[in-house]
Amino acid sequence: FPIDRTRAFGKLILFGEHLVVYKAPAIVGAVSAYTDCKLEYLDEPGLVVVDNRPAVPHYKEEKKDEGDEAIKLTLAHLGVDPSVRGVKMTFGGDLCCASGIGASAAQVVALARAIDVADSRSMTEDEINAAGYEGEKGYHGTPSGIDNTAATFGGLLRFRRTDGAPAFEKVRFPSAIRIVYASTGITASTTKVVGDVRSRKEADESWFADIMEKYASLVGEAERVLERGDMNRLGELMNLNHTLLQELTVSCKELDDLVVAARAAGAVGAKMSGTGRGGLMIALTPTEELQNSVAAALEKLAPQVWKTTFA
Ligand code: PMV
Repeated sequence: FPIDRTRAFGKLILFGEHLVVYKAPAIVGAVSAYTDCKLEYLDEPGLVVVDNRPAVPHYKEEKKDEGDEAIKLTLAHLGVDPSVRGVKMTFGGDLCCASGIGASAAQVVALARAIDVADSRSMTEDEINAAGYEGEKGYHGTPSGIDNTAATFGGLLRFRRTDGAPAFEKVRFPSAIRIVYASTGITASTTKVVGDVRSRKEADESWFADIMEKYASLVGEAERVLERGDMNRLGELMNLNHTLLQELTVSCKELDDLVVAARAAGAVGAKMSGTGRGGLMIALTPTEELQNSVAAALEKLAPQVWKTTFA
């Protein structure tokens, strides 16, 4: 079984979490860490899931019900019925599951790829991505599709949700983008936080429109800055995006503390990434030296810290 053909990547959102649900453009980078999946058909009906993925403490227990639902939705979308023909799936890879890294999307995209390999279906990448999107609905009813798209295609992407297929393209950038990311150790519920933002938006549309407007000019500039490779301005824009996420009420003390610590240690910018109210913080550290020193500073505060480079 060519398990390497089932790889699906984790991701970090550089700009636009939450607002991307409402069709604002976002910028997302896939990390090199991945989830893979081996799929075997069984003689007896039934579903066996073996989960060997590394994870931060409590992640798997807290996400178990949503994860089971996501697997079911992906299988149903691809017409695989374990009550007719038994299926065993084994998840692995080096992506450490933590909220904010897109672990759920990586899992369902890896599963879609494993079905494609096991059945020799020759699915297109868009079909794999669409299956991942159906699976993501197990985690929250209204996913933007950003996580499964990054998991499927990799690279640094400009992503926008539409009423039909998602619109995305690779972003060109001249120099490596070095990032440190750190976990708060808190597993956030995407369903709950996305739902809270929706309620607040419905209660005060002008408050939300104001945030969307500020974000639109910020992300437009971020795209131009990325193309120029101006890391200092990119960092400032990440800081501004963090302020907007605070206004949106999706940050929390633990995330804000990590952001402050990363900036104090020399990061040129830092923000929460993903759902928020827990999950991850990312910091922009243009040199290897800075990447190491910011990671060392964060290790004193955060239960887990990683380094990655978009290149
Ligand atoms: O926390 P994550 O990795 O699941 O990212 C969620 C990103 C949101 O914008 C909050 C939701 C979405 O569907 O885009």
